[in-house]
Amino acid sequence: MIPPDIAAVTDYEAHAQARMTEQAWAYIAGGSADEITVRWNQEAFARLKLQARALPDVRDVDTRVALFGQTLAHPILLAPTAYHKLAHPDGERATVLAAAALEAAMVVSTQASVSLEDVAAEARSAQSQAPLWFQLYLQADHGLSGALVRRAEAAGYRALVVTVDAPVSLRNREQRVGFTLPPGIEAVNLRGQPAPPAPGDARDALRHLLATAAGWPDIAWLRGFTKLPILVKGITNPEDAERAVAHGADGVIVSNHGGRVLDTVPATIDVLPAIADRVAGRVPLLLDGGVRRGTDIVKALALGASAVLIGRPYLHGLAVGGAVGVAHVLTILRTELEVAMVLTGRPTLAAIDRTVLWPEG
Ligand code: FNR
Ligand code: LAC
Repeated sequence: MIPPDIAAVTDYEAHAQARMTEQAWAYIAGGSADEITVRWNQEAFARLKLQARALPDVRDVDTRVALFGQTLAHPILLAPTAYHKLAHPDGERATVLAAAALEAAMVVSTQASVSLEDVAAEARSAQSQAPLWFQLYLQADHGLSGALVRRAEAAGYRALVVTVDAPVSLRNREQRVGFTLPPGIEAVNLRGQPAPPAPGDARDALRHLLATAAGWPDIAWLRGFTKLPILVKGITNPEDAERAVAHGADGVIVSNHGGRVLDTVPATIDVLPAIADRVAGRVPLLLDGGVRRGTDIVKALALGASAVLIGRPYLHGLAVGGAVGVAHVLTILRTELEVAMVLTGRPTLAAIDRTVLWPEG
């Protein structure tokens, strides 16, 4: 089931592309405009150098991390991504089984192709020990957002991830292949609500966005509306991180949406240090964008993240092997992380600090 030539998570890419329609591949792989930020996200990790430690006195590695009162077995989360059925017919049901098996926290997208209740039911039936978090696109209409939040609370979700980098973008790769959602795949959580703009339709998306746009006061409203921890996702500069904290965020996800929104913003790992300096430990920072190796995770933790999220890599695993593929992607990354921790002499995540990086200059 898993092709034998797969050793690294990026090995899944070509196999995934071969199994998907040209359109679905354009949606998952693509970014905005020239996809420069998509490339930078990975290249920036590659530029950072590590320091090895010889004969490290490490008998055991402990990858656990405590976040928002929850203990995660490891710091590798599944980022919210829309429409998993584009990658595999079982969609988010398959993904959550893998998350359960590997004890990975999964952030379920508002635009999931399986309802948030059905994803939660699947996690329960798998006796998952890992939390589910729910990703929300806040709208100025608090009725719609509030109803989704109450549904997520009732279904047992343990945190809210509010995505604040507007999901309007010019995705030329999608436009070139005329991407539209195939029949039978839709944002089922939003049934009965005005349809979200179809991916790829940038002018409609812009109109929809401007008509329904939320602002910072809506974050403060949400803070008063729910007791769940609130993470603000899509922060790429220190000023916005400061605003997120000031408006009551319990956590910040440093993210440029995998290079899918504004092309030529910097790589997330490049903006992390300044954001970490500004936030100064007041709330935990998470990071996504371009994480493809266990060593990338060490670098993100060294520069101030408490955990990372992966997007495309697990969608590739999903396309190739369903739940088994996603579980394999998580296994590869977790193993790579543990090996990197041993070789850098860091038995715990807390022991990973900036001294794990080769000092430049
Ligand atoms: C996304 N992302 C995203 N983010 C979000 O908040 N809500 C969503 O519905 C989606 N949908 C989505 C679909 C697809 C196909 C991709 C690739 C990404 C962004 C995602 O959460 C994350 O920020 C990036 O995927 C991280 O970058 P990498 O790991 O893909 O490089
Ligand atoms: C995307 C939206 C759904 O990145 O967030 O495609």
